[in-house]
Amino acid sequence: MRPLLITNARLINEGEIRDADVLIRGERIEKVADSIEVPDNADVLDAAGRYLMPGMIDDQVHFREPGLTEKGDLASESAAAVAGGVTSFMDMPNVSPQTTTREALARKYEAAHGRARANYAFYLGATNRNINEIKALRPGEACGIKVFMGASTGDMLVDDSGVLELIFAGAPVIVVTHCEHSPTIRDNEARAKATFGADVPMSEHPKIRSATACLASSSLAVDLARRHGARLHVLHLTTALEMGLFSRASRREKNITAEVCVHHLWFDESRYEDLGTLIKCNPAIKTAKDREALVAAVNDGRIDIIATDHAPHTATEKRRSYFKAPAGLPLVQHALQVLFDLAKDGRITLETLVDRTSHAVADIFGVVDRGYVREGYFADLVLIDADKPYTVEASNLLYKCHWSPFEGHAFSSSIDTTIVNGAVVFRDGQLSGGVAGQRLEFNRGR
Ligand code: DOR
Repeated sequence: MRPLLITNARLINEGEIRDADVLIRGERIEKVADSIEVPDNADVLDAAGRYLMPGMIDDQVHFREPGLTEKGDLASESAAAVAGGVTSFMDMPNVSPQTTTREALARKYEAAHGRARANYAFYLGATNRNINEIKALRPGEACGIKVFMGASTGDMLVDDSGVLELIFAGAPVIVVTHCEHSPTIRDNEARAKATFGADVPMSEHPKIRSATACLASSSLAVDLARRHGARLHVLHLTTALEMGLFSRASRREKNITAEVCVHHLWFDESRYEDLGTLIKCNPAIKTAKDREALVAAVNDGRIDIIATDHAPHTATEKRRSYFKAPAGLPLVQHALQVLFDLAKDGRITLETLVDRTSHAVADIFGVVDRGYVREGYFADLVLIDADKPYTVEASNLLYKCHWSPFEGHAFSSSIDTTIVNGAVVFRDGQLSGGVAGQRLEFNRGR
């Protein structure tokens, strides 16, 4: 590979925005400086004032392999990821068969090798019965242990309180949780059915998967982590109520960290009217007030990470009625554009955006040599044109499911170029080059 010099970039990195050139040699960043002379034999990419930042490290995706590949697979969804400026992903275990053994994990890494266009890691899923697999896990074999403390897609609920104690006491790597209290949800469902019959309207979703159900479960997770000194990361928070559980302290001092997803920062319950089951997801999109509280928590540091929970289902499945439509929506191709529009509206700063989508993920999971634009680090970068509007259309979607909740929507920014391990993998709306994704490495367990 010839060296690649990126010139005239507006670099967003480590809490500041400045003009910079970045020289890439092989897979890594060789130099970051105000101005760099073009080395012999180098290719030059003139950023012409566009924003350059570390690619997003998405700590929560469902790429559906193995077993659910009619919805998506590692090749298709990682292509969409790099088209969205996501250069690394951490994939969830609710596939078929479920990723609940170390052997199943090893098979997933084999499947990703040579097919994933972004860098990859996989979670080990917890069940009521696999504590021995969890304890035997070696740091580096999985990015974390996923515990569904609320039932969702894939039937992986861990509701045995004794087992939860054992997981939090013995997990050798970070525990990440889906928090919704299933008994509360079941009661709410029964009440909705009694009122509406089988035809429950979509607008009931946030009342069924209620804020109370979220708080009960996330409070339990936080309590378990505190009592056992476990490293806990609570996924996809959705309510103002839960924000009181998390600390504004620097993430280096925290044992308990928190995540929000782009759809919960963008949509609120008013959108059930036009988008219906397309935005059915668990936990549910809630009120505008909840969304405001999430934005505030991103800004004050109670929320550490912004992810996608990219969860494709086929268009046919999503057209079903409330109870029959599966929860989840595809997001990985437009997450950064959503966030750039929030920044344009003054809701978050670009420095915070980069911190929550890259720096914090690398720090919290201990990802080796990624997540920052630093000399010696892997060249995982995205160039964004904040002044080039982009309309989401079926024709520009790379998802296997071929639909998006944003179809017809015009974002004010475009993903110009994505670089993974020094290779230009997306440019001017097209995939380019080969498959450059590598297995993520981790320098910490919990
Ligand atoms: O909405 C969701 N979809 N929430 C989850 O927890 C799972 C995901 C999926 O796998 O479809």
